[in-house]
Amino acid sequence: MKIVEVHHPLIQHKLGLMRRAGISTKEFRELASEVASLLTYEATKDLETVEQRIEGWAGPLTVHQIKGKKVTIVPILRAGLGMLPGVLDMIPAAKVSVVGLQRNEETLEPITYYEKLTGRMDERIALIVDPMLATAGTLVATVDMLKAAGCKRIKGLFLVAAPEGLKRIEAAHPDVEIYTASIDERLNEHGYILPGLGDAGDKIFG
Ligand code: PRP
Repeated sequence: MKIVEVHHPLIQHKLGLMRRAGISTKEFRELASEVASLLTYEATKDLETVEQRIEGWAGPLTVHQIKGKKVTIVPILRAGLGMLPGVLDMIPAAKVSVVGLQRNEETLEPITYYEKLTGRMDERIALIVDPMLATAGTLVATVDMLKAAGCKRIKGLFLVAAPEGLKRIEAAHPDVEIYTASIDERLNEHGYILPGLGDAGDKIFG
């Protein structure tokens, strides 16, 4: 399974700022979006391009353009919305497929409460965005949903990921690619990532 922990200094610096206790909603939101942009850059490195002849300022030339139906961004409500602006900054023409899943804080199992996917999912690369990959219950359910809709290429972008969650997604969907700013140490008994970011949803929305 492809798991990429992105060690770029800008990402590491911004993630370090996000880990501070007492960070403001404004700052956390801005940083979540900025790190999402940088993860998008990394996760889209293998998009295919085709040559195209165009008329340039100094005459005809060949340029490279991304081909096909391209990308749909899949933010997982609610915390994933905090990363969406940063991903859209990089891919402004992308269609957005919104899914809502909430983790039951006792059983840690996800409950799906919203699903609005864009058309032609079978032709698009899905970029799931969510600040946290903890037990991976949410991610597994989201990938199940996307595959049921015909999606064949799926990548997930996470600010932080727990080793336990990475193992679970690898067992359930080894074809999914994961890009994260950090693989953290472990989950605590409540399913929170350590050292983690705390509750990203609350930090983004208050
Ligand atoms: C958080 C997070 C993920 C999920 C990760 O969302 O944003 O979606 O938990 O946990 P898992 O890997 O163990 O499934 P939460 O359920 O707290 O909802 P929210 O985004 O609405 O705050």
